[in-house]
Amino acid sequence: MSPESPLATTLDPDAPRKPKPRVFSGIQPTGELHLGNWLGAVRTWRAQIEEGRDDTMFCVVDAHAITVPYEAAELRQKIDAFAIDLIACGIDPEKTTLFVQSDVREHTELAWYLAGVTPYGELGRMTQFKEKGEGKDFVSTGLFTYPVLMSADILLYKATIVPVGEDQIQHLELARETVRRFNHRFGPVFVEPQPRLSTTPRVMGLDGESKMSKSKGNTINLFEPKEEFWQKLRTAFTDPQRLTRTDPGRPELCNIFTMHKAVSDAQTQSEVAENCTGAKWGCVDCKKVLMEGFERELVPLRAKREALSMSHVRQALGDGAEKARRIATETMKEVREVMGLGSLAT
Ligand code: TRP
Repeated sequence: MSPESPLATTLDPDAPRKPKPRVFSGIQPTGELHLGNWLGAVRTWRAQIEEGRDDTMFCVVDAHAITVPYEAAELRQKIDAFAIDLIACGIDPEKTTLFVQSDVREHTELAWYLAGVTPYGELGRMTQFKEKGEGKDFVSTGLFTYPVLMSADILLYKATIVPVGEDQIQHLELARETVRRFNHRFGPVFVEPQPRLSTTPRVMGLDGESKMSKSKGNTINLFEPKEEFWQKLRTAFTDPQRLTRTDPGRPELCNIFTMHKAVSDAQTQSEVAENCTGAKWGCVDCKKVLMEGFERELVPLRAKREALSMSHVRQALGDGAEKARRIATETMKEVREVMGLGSLAT
């Protein structure tokens, strides 16, 4: 190829490369990693890492977990547990940046600065705040300013893509507005992040009614031993119209069928649907087939988790925090500069 060839420039290893879009998402280390987390979020994160198209960062957001009453010893233990589980799930520290939020102090620093451009009234309108605070004797200021810390998580790394569940869209919209307000006042430092919604249909809890959630106690934990996993699945709610085996079921209304859509192949899905609407299978038959689908996915994850040592995980988190800190430090330099903060003596 001649040096004049247009391809020559694109192949030049020294040519400036367009930076990859940055993906950031976080998960709170509360309860245990459950099926809803896996199907709705973590599995998608893994796919994004594997694709390698984006620069991905995933964060265990411990500072968000302290906005409601908690036990310190338990939190510490959960941080470790979540890190192990995430790595076992394919959030591979070799290919992504996996870290713990409070290991990078800039998150809380930026949150305070952003609080200066976040309208109080907006925070009061956040549905999650209203829901989590309702009827509680003690509602912390942290619960109220939770979305400001979440904005800081994202903006600190100038992430443009944020995989989240539907319930976080309002927070993300606030983060976008914060970018506009900040940039308008101080100059173009931040970029507006876009939400990326999971394509997996939303899996409900075992009650079949509300979202699978640790606080509702309607979950199956991802790393639950097989027997207990099956016991929970076996008794999970299905289509309420199917009282006996001879009642035809409505797969589209059944949470178990939603799970089939996530883990069973197309042929199995249509077989399941046919046997359900035709009242040929009982719900337990259908769940047995689902269990096979889960086992196919989960057996390798369990094996990986068994093989992980805590020292390896700690090392990985340390490295992850260091990588994150490098970006965070740069952003904070810009922020302090444009906001007129500090003495410039440091
Ligand atoms: N609030 C998110 C949740 O509860 C967790 C979270 C914190 C997050 N910071 C984030 C998600 C930044 C995405 C980006 O699900």
